[in-house]
Amino acid sequence: MHSHAAPLRVLSVVGARPNFMKIAPFVHALRAQKDAACVHRLVHTGQHYDAAMSRSFFSALDIPEPDVDLGVGSGTHAEQVGRTMIAFEPVVRDWRPDWIVVVGDVNATCACALTARKEHVRLAHIEAGLRSFDETMPEEINRIVTDRLAHLLFTPDALADRNLAAEGTAPERIRRVGNIMIDTLERHRAAAAALDPQAVAGAAAAADGGFAVLTLHRPATVDCRDRLVPLVRLLADELSAELPVIWALHPRTRKQLDAFGLRAAVETAPGLKLIEPIGYREMLRLNMGARLMLTDSGGLQEECCVLGTPCITLRPNTERPVTLQEHGGTCILAGHDPAAVRAAFRRLRDAPRKPFRPPLWDGHTAERIVAALAGAAGPAAT
Ligand code: UD1
Repeated sequence: MHSHAAPLRVLSVVGARPNFMKIAPFVHALRAQKDAACVHRLVHTGQHYDAAMSRSFFSALDIPEPDVDLGVGSGTHAEQVGRTMIAFEPVVRDWRPDWIVVVGDVNATCACALTARKEHVRLAHIEAGLRSFDETMPEEINRIVTDRLAHLLFTPDALADRNLAAEGTAPERIRRVGNIMIDTLERHRAAAAALDPQAVAGAAAAADGGFAVLTLHRPATVDCRDRLVPLVRLLADELSAELPVIWALHPRTRKQLDAFGLRAAVETAPGLKLIEPIGYREMLRLNMGARLMLTDSGGLQEECCVLGTPCITLRPNTERPVTLQEHGGTCILAGHDPAAVRAAFRRLRDAPRKPFRPPLWDGHTAERIVAALAGAAGPAAT
């Protein structure tokens, strides 16, 4: 172990909303170390900057103020990745961490992974090994690049290990530790349960079991007129009349509704309740009470699994197959075709809640990661 040497310098990175629930347990586990084996700094790339997409999560999830905010903001992929690398490089040179820890699959993950290796700093990736096998997804490129570069790959399940093995990853780089998002879920579960869903959604319809929750944000879903228009019409004109639908709107999606002239249709549909992006606990509370989830988010698929919420995944593929019904989970892949979504909606709306917890999704993933990092000091990276 490293406890008698100088403490390990660990720098971790967040950039976008789904990173925050993954970094929080890691930061808490570092804080709880008894032997002070690691000292830590947190960098926010600033990819997400709206209060509702970023700051509110820091306070709600008890994440400390970032030591550095790179302020990269929105832009094309090249702009985001390029600006992140340029701003991150001097931070790495200044502090010379022993480890850089990146989470998930957003542009911040990939950009900082590249910089870490170019600066000869050891790199660890939390949530490694996920593959949708759809290389048109920006996140898939980020996953492949990050996993190829990382010295330590912390995976959530055996299917992820198998993906890495199939790519020729040396087994000693792979550590199956479970799903760190579930650490956050377990920590906030009781407080979320105490919230009033009607207060969260501002909707009289939000009595437990009496509503569905919808989220959409992926470019493949919301940037494509031929996909978004029929899907939104189905939800506004048909499905929300059968079961009220609460829709937490991502900024990207809000823009696209305007661009495709859909704003009036969604605002006048009586069963459709549009709300602003909500906090972590608030979404957890809605998920606990929902009869059904409709989403293109990977993280929500995982949370649905553990909570038992039947989930219609509005994508043709998933990098998280462990959440699918055929592996014991609660999700089905419905794609974007309205007929398939309608059929899935009618099939799942009366399905019982069936919680499913894959091995090691036990709320203790971050502790295993910190122990592995402290024990893996090893020789300097090349
Ligand atoms: C990013 C991630 C995606 C993740 C998602 C969660 C990548 C490649 N994508 O996608 O994997 O699931 O975050 O939200 O990293 N915007 C705001 N305020 C903000 C941030 C963004 O208004 O705080 C708007 C901007 O107009 C921006 C658009 O949303 O152009 C998209 O933001 P961006 O960061 O490019 O990607 P996301 O779609 O959020």
